[in-house]
Amino acid sequence: MAVITRDVVIVGAGPSGLTAAAELHRAGLSVTVLEARDRVGGRTWTGDIDGAMIEIGGQWLSPHHTAALALVEELGLRTFSRYREGESVYLAADGTRQQFIGDAFPAPAETAAEIDRLLALLDGLAAEVGAEEPWAHPRAAELDSIPFSIWLEGQSDNEYARETVSFFVAGAMLTKPAHTFSTLQALHMAAAQGSYTSLATDTFMLDKRVIGGMQQVSQRLAASLGADVHLNAPVRKIRWSDTGVTVFADGDLEVHADRVVLAVPPNLYAGISFDPPLPRRRHQMHQHMSFGFVVKVHAVYETPFWRAKGLSGTGFSDTDLVSEVYDNTNHGVDNGAMVGFIAHTQADAYFAMTPAERKQAALDCLVRYLGPEAADPVVFYESDWGSEEWTRGAYGVSFDLGGLTRYGHDHRDPVGPLHFSCSDLAGHGFQHVDGAIRMGQRTAAAILATRALV
Ligand code: FDA
Repeated sequence: MAVITRDVVIVGAGPSGLTAAAELHRAGLSVTVLEARDRVGGRTWTGDIDGAMIEIGGQWLSPHHTAALALVEELGLRTFSRYREGESVYLAADGTRQQFIGDAFPAPAETAAEIDRLLALLDGLAAEVGAEEPWAHPRAAELDSIPFSIWLEGQSDNEYARETVSFFVAGAMLTKPAHTFSTLQALHMAAAQGSYTSLATDTFMLDKRVIGGMQQVSQRLAASLGADVHLNAPVRKIRWSDTGVTVFADGDLEVHADRVVLAVPPNLYAGISFDPPLPRRRHQMHQHMSFGFVVKVHAVYETPFWRAKGLSGTGFSDTDLVSEVYDNTNHGVDNGAMVGFIAHTQADAYFAMTPAERKQAALDCLVRYLGPEAADPVVFYESDWGSEEWTRGAYGVSFDLGGLTRYGHDHRDPVGPLHFSCSDLAGHGFQHVDGAIRMGQRTAAAILATRALV
């Protein structure tokens, strides 16, 4: 058995845990990071699939993600813009295909005006609610008790406008059906990314990528910690008291430390045995936080053929299997890559099919967006985070109905020497790499503050 003694032990080598570890290390504390997988990066993972570099997990940065952009630059990484020249495609419920320019989906003038009205209303509410403490809003309890789909029905009798506005937060962000989360949760997601209109603006939310892949952020942070990052070391048990922690991981690792940072998504806390058990309220709280689900489908072609047809590669549908598609070609390559998203109940239906049926269904959909050339990619790959033991969904974890007001105000607080850090607990950048980094910085600062007191 290897027995290690450090000031702080970090569980999870995703962007949040590694940010916390690097900040503490830089401040002069000794740290060690225990990671369950055989790699760092967590939900960011830049894979080599049949010779193609594929962003299996998180990849895009928006201008609002200032903490992530600053860290990317600090680590010596560079970004590039997503290809967005030309027309986008909208696949309507009646099977028609329309090409359009700009961010607004094609719709009759009256419906377009209704969408704008709803976006303005949601922008105003999101600004009031804010990213950091949505539960403190005077109407928080009311907004947290109303499913977003029901709230929208009360605001507009235009079904197309409601579906469109709902899609930006349900299919595209929380990746849960709009009847399963509250209006307050929708407003929090919007505030955390700048505004509701930001969510509706793909050129904002999906603005930049890291050249060489997002996982490098974690890889470079880990490199700065040297041998203090242990892979293949899932943490199974944490013994804790007011005087410190002992953390037990596979590989016969036992780490003694003053504090532990749990930098894993909240749905996984229950997989660790705590001695003594976590307080009753935490046991309850964590059961009200669950992952959404989305599948990323990747198709790599010999050329980005859609560009020659005047298409940006961007496409949307609120009824077809693949609800969003984007040009995902890597920087400085000749081939072309597309990525599509299949969200929540569509993802359930997708995984009810055989692998061959799934591939056919996804490619049929890409054909509807881009034309017959899309039928025959050189590489096809599905990012299936639902079957990843150390994640279990995508993109992130959110509260169920009423959870934000019932538990939000103390869900980030430490319990004795146990600190919690991940993108799913973030205010700004919630559920994004930016939020993971902000939470890592915040957790490191909180630990350093406690040491300044003694
Ligand atoms: P994260 O989950 O990344 O890391 C947690 C780590 O803990 C993992 O490495 C895990 O293996 C480890 N772990 C779990 N249990 C453990 C245990 N018991 N012992 C030891 N280790 C354990 N964001 C964005 O900004 N732009 C985007 O485009 C996207 N797109 C996107 C697509 C997909 C498919 C996914 C799944 C996610 C995104 N995201 C995203 C979200 C983004 O990837 C995510 O918010 C961050 O990676 C979260 O970082 P954390 O460090 O908080 O958790």
